[in-house]
Amino acid sequence: MIRHALAGDTAALVAIGEATGIFRPHEAEGLLGATLDAIHAGQLGEGHQAHVWVEGPEVPPAGWVYFAPTPNANGVWDLWWIGTDPARQGRGIGSQLLGFVEDRARAAGGRLLLVETSSQPALDPTRRFYANRGYVECGRVPDFYGEGDAKVIFAKRLRPVARPGADDDPT
Ligand SMILES: CC(C)(COP(=O)(O)OP(=O)(O)OC[C@H]1O[C@@H](n2cnc3c(N)ncnc32)[C@H](O)[C@@H]1OP(=O)(O)O)[C@@H](O)C(=O)NCCC(=O)NCCS
Repeated sequence: MIRHALAGDTAALVAIGEATGIFRPHEAEGLLGATLDAIHAGQLGEGHQAHVWVEGPEVPPAGWVYFAPTPNANGVWDLWWIGTDPARQGRGIGSQLLGFVEDRARAAGGRLLLVETSSQPALDPTRRFYANRGYVECGRVPDFYGEGDAKVIFAKRLRPVARPGADDDPT
């Protein structure tokens, strides 16, 4: 099941963040831990939310996702981070979390969901994960994360669009 992240989940989520390799060890606590603390303290504003996938009420989370509306944009949402415990990857948890985000954003009037990731070969499976779920690569910023490591931007349209010339839009 998917539920709101609680303050008591933070240590487990930081551990998953480190284990997935999204964050370097010294970054996970500062970035993910601090972001979760800020969400729980209500400091990040309405719409910022972190949710976890848990097998049951008394077990630690196996995956988590953090997303928020994009500031000053009309119906655009950002998927900031998503991660599944490496021991549990490939079993549908990430897909459920991603679908949950899409449903939440859509219900709040969202039109587009954006995801940014790295061009590194190690992230090939992650980019396929998004592409296989309807995300369209919209651009790259060369050398964004480091020399030779581009930022890859994916977008998914959350609701149908009815206007001429929309063929090249993310669907
Ligand atoms: C990307 C990620 C969130 C997917 O979660 P998941 O629980 O493994 O996802 P699912 O089981 O629902 O789906 C598996 C799909 O993801 C792909 N995948 C990506 N990384 C994978 C991994 N390490 N192990 C297994 N499958 C992986 C599989 O190829 C599969 O694709 P397909 O169903 O389209 O053929 C997860 O693999 C992960 O945490 N990766 C590392 C962190 C990361 O890259 N986060 C995103 C940063 S932008």
